[in-house]
Amino acid sequence: MSHFKEEKTFLMIKPDGVQKGLIGEIIKRIEQRDLKIVAIEMFQATPEQVSGHYPKDEVWISRLGDKTLSTYTKYNIDPIKELGTGNNLEIGKMVRAWLIDYMTSAPLVRMVVQGLHAVDMVRKIAGPTLPYLADMGTIRGDFSNDSPILGNIEKRAVMNLVHASETAEEAKHEIEFWFGQKGNIFDYKRFGVDR
Ligand code: TYD
Repeated sequence: MSHFKEEKTFLMIKPDGVQKGLIGEIIKRIEQRDLKIVAIEMFQATPEQVSGHYPKDEVWISRLGDKTLSTYTKYNIDPIKELGTGNNLEIGKMVRAWLIDYMTSAPLVRMVVQGLHAVDMVRKIAGPTLPYLADMGTIRGDFSNDSPILGNIEKRAVMNLVHASETAEEAKHEIEFWFGQKGNIFDYKRFGVDR
């Protein structure tokens, strides 16, 4: 049953995480939950790479637009006045373009994290997407404060410190995308976890 301990996920520290000096803090929170870093690298992403990372299908883009629109509804702000459209696909496309600007604005740190329930654990440690809704005790809740309302007015993506894969399937795809099929992924035993 040891394969349960070999679940892998992809975690990336975004520009604001790097520029706020949170690399160590983020790694610490992963390691202290008995998860191990099996690959890690700092690099500068190109716009093409970031565009390849985020899904291109209209379902995903519309869903991103829907999530953004829900904040407008919540705060009773007219999206047409702010963004020139109320269409979820159009808004999703705008947010996607802002994400590319944001993710190429400073170096990123890419990681593969391995351990029991790695995908769900890392999502839990990161906290939900929007910092203003993230609980204290999560990375996003403890170290960031942002919302789509302000972000969209400033024509930028929400700054939320990290990206973490949402499902095992997404993790497999993202690990291959960022580290290649035979990426530099290491195998070692964590004391107290693997033996
Ligand atoms: P999403 O995949 O919903 O979140 P997560 O990163 O938690 O998997 O969204 C991708 C990114 O899009 C998110 O990290 C920040 C950005 N974003 C905005 O800029 N505005 C928004 O309204 C939403 C929902 C996301």
